Amino acid sequence: MELDLLGNLQRTQMCGELRLSADGEQVVVMGWVNRRRDHGNLIFLDLRDRAGIVQIVLDKELCPEAHAKAEAVRPEYVVAVQGKVRRRDAAAINPNMPTGEIEIDVDELRVLNDAKTPPFSPAEEAIGNEELRLKYRYVDLRRPAMQENMILRHKVALAIRQYLSGEGFLEIETPFMTRSTPEGARDYLVPSRVHPGEFYALPQSPQMFKQILMIGGLDRYFQIARCFRDEDLRADRQPEFTQIDLEMTFPQQETVFRVVEGFLTAAFREAGITLSTPFPQITYDDAIRRFGIDKPDMRLPELTDVRSEFEAAELESLKIEPGLPIVAIAIPNKQAMSNTQKKAFIKEVETGLGPDLAYLDVERLASSAQYAGLSERIDRAVAANCKLERIEPEHRLVVVSPRLGANKSRDHAWIYKKAGQLRLELAKRFREEHGAFEKKGTAEDYKFLWVTDFPFFEWDEESKKWTFAHHPFTSPHEDDLQAGRMESNPGAVRALAYDIVLNGIELGSGSIRIHRQEVQQQIFHSLGMSEAEAKERFGFFLEALEYGTPPHGGIALGLDRIVMILAGAQSLREVIAFPKTAKAVDLMVDAPSPATEMQLKELHIQRRRS
Ligand code: AMO
Repeated sequence: MELDLLGNLQRTQMCGELRLSADGEQVVVMGWVNRRRDHGNLIFLDLRDRAGIVQIVLDKELCPEAHAKAEAVRPEYVVAVQGKVRRRDAAAINPNMPTGEIEIDVDELRVLNDAKTPPFSPAEEAIGNEELRLKYRYVDLRRPAMQENMILRHKVALAIRQYLSGEGFLEIETPFMTRSTPEGARDYLVPSRVHPGEFYALPQSPQMFKQILMIGGLDRYFQIARCFRDEDLRADRQPEFTQIDLEMTFPQQETVFRVVEGFLTAAFREAGITLSTPFPQITYDDAIRRFGIDKPDMRLPELTDVRSEFEAAELESLKIEPGLPIVAIAIPNKQAMSNTQKKAFIKEVETGLGPDLAYLDVERLASSAQYAGLSERIDRAVAANCKLERIEPEHRLVVVSPRLGANKSRDHAWIYKKAGQLRLELAKRFREEHGAFEKKGTAEDYKFLWVTDFPFFEWDEESKKWTFAHHPFTSPHEDDLQAGRMESNPGAVRALAYDIVLNGIELGSGSIRIHRQEVQQQIFHSLGMSEAEAKERFGFFLEALEYGTPPHGGIALGLDRIVMILAGAQSLREVIAFPKTAKAVDLMVDAPSPATEMQLKELHIQRRRS
């Protein structure tokens, strides 16, 4: 069809903004045709823009020219409409549309552009094929759900910026083309044309730069920083993601906590949620003992060690290893199971628990004369620990007990961790009441937690070496350092590192840093790094530490994760405009893609024939 020119037509309002108060006003709106309904002499167009949808009426008798054009208009055509806002007849009011009390009587319709039939309609609510959504992201982004997510993301980022700026933080950009930063993932490398055989690394985080900004006397830094990590992707991981990254001079841990609580409160306010602060805190050791995981979902009841409820004879007759914890998990669950379902369930749980742990069937205990007392004691202990009045029939109680001969030499964390894993799997299965990503919208649905005192080192089974648990710039507790535990008992050294956790998701990590060069060198040494290697990788940083480095510390939170949770989305891809697939592919632009022979030559790269 013949397209119209925009000419000097000026938009006066957004489609979705119009309300009854505009009744009688002459307006110009522009947007995409969401739907078209042809009733012969009357054609209705639903016109959509970012603000919403408004109904346009074309009456053949009143505006024959516009009506004729509208006959040819199809969904996703871009049109401009000049007309008069009119109150709808009572029978035609649509209470489900914010603009449902009015419509626009058209004087003039201009068709600014046509559109091929899109692979899916932005008017559909749920589109099953995500690959199609990513390939035609511009169509997908027109969907109101995606627009809401983008708007939310903008508001959250803006609120955080404003809060931090108000607290004296300066937003400073740090380079993308840089050296490797050790955050535990693989680097994305950029070959240098000017320096044959040399590469820049894209930053996994601005970690070293932000520390250097503190050495540079900037006092308080933040950045809504893009980070790049070549790692296996999951629903909550993207190769390119955004951190709210900050660093401050002379802080205590608590100073960092208050700043984060402040900006999260500001961010959540944008989604209509009022948080109460300060957030509770738990040490890493307690988190493992009480939840079996270092990022506990506090919406679920905790683990209960019921070992002390067992008498020696009971342990013996139930073939339980006496020296180890017996861990009970209470999961709210309204579903009743048939006997066959229950058998299959127990089998599945036992397989997951491995050879050393067994499923202790408390329901069976309860129905036997010999163990009824024990079953009651377990119920009472769990109820007391989980602050439940009593164990109700709708609480599925699963007790994990160590089999005779189970390994006693290790510390007991392995049992808590297994039970913790089971606790989450059960919760997911029975998620009616405790879905991990359900959006409900009251402060009660968002259980924040600070986890502190992480171990400094982690034992890496593969390399049989101690490796850093957070990153190598994290300060150990000063008393662990002074007591010489770095050498005598590395596993017992605590780090001044902390995580912020929300509903079982790690939102952010940070630490108080090492500010003395000899300590930093000692840490590199403890990690098995030779002096030469430390100098090669971090020489500039070690040198900077020698020029008057103040005590400093900070944290980084995943912006994508925060917005995902606030949007009630199941994947980061819902809150990133142009995300990558699980295989790190951008389906819209088709990246990555091969370089030309010419480009490779300039970069001194030769393709290996395979
Ligand atoms: P860390 O590596 O723990 O710490 O990262 C901080 C937070 O960034 C988010 N995040 C991710 N989000 C999406 N996709 C990913 N691939 C991804 N990786 C991490 C998480 C995580 O909690 N430099 C330190 C911070 C510091 O010590 O100040 C750092 O980057 O929400």
